[in-house]
Amino acid sequence: MKILLFCSLFFSINFAYADSKTLFEQGEHLFRTAGGYGCSTCHGMFAQGGGNVGGDVRGKGIDKLNRALEKEPTMLLLSNALNLAQRELLASYLIELGKIPSVEWIIDDQVTFSNASIKLGVLSQLVLVNKRLETIKVALPFVAKSSFIEIKPYETKAVQWIPKEGTIELVYKQSVLAIEIK
Ligand code: HEC
Repeated sequence: MKILLFCSLFFSINFAYADSKTLFEQGEHLFRTAGGYGCSTCHGMFAQGGGNVGGDVRGKGIDKLNRALEKEPTMLLLSNALNLAQRELLASYLIELGKIPSVEWIIDDQVTFSNASIKLGVLSQLVLVNKRLETIKVALPFVAKSSFIEIKPYETKAVQWIPKEGTIELVYKQSVLAIEIK
């Protein structure tokens, strides 16, 4: 009896986890493919902006999405393409992303020194956008001692980590990002 109870508990937890993961992944997929080009074209791969026209939409709910689909000239084309269930899927994906504090770093050909700050001890996301014509390699010592990330031209990648006290300085050639942990 005990064993049976344990098994059913184990499976129900497992299934609940699998379900929520799938929803997030479905939302992410739709976000990157809606209308053939995806919301990501204008809002960035992780809804963080990416320096594109739409800007950061992490944490935006269904009301803001519906309003934008009706009023935002650039989004009108998508309005007919998305049914209610798809809009809800997208909104829940954006809400989930909104729970993860993020810092965006756009690396281009300019000499840039940017500053950002992020909360201490909360699972966070660093989104790196490579706007150079070369594959770049950035050291991520705050993730692990010899950790690094490689990003192809015009590719966006994200790293998740839990910030510890101090300041993180990331450098690629003449691009520098300093993240203050508060
Ligand atoms: C062709 C470019 C483009 C595409 C594609 C696009 N958007 Fe937008 N979106 C915009 C612009 C521009 C705004 C207005 C931004 C502003 O006012 O700062 C906007 C606004 C929004 C807002 C409202 C933000 C707010 O603060 O109220 C949401 C939510 C949003 N978009 C989600 C999406 C989703 C989800 C998709 C994919 C189904 C999508 N967008 C596709 C350009 C686009």
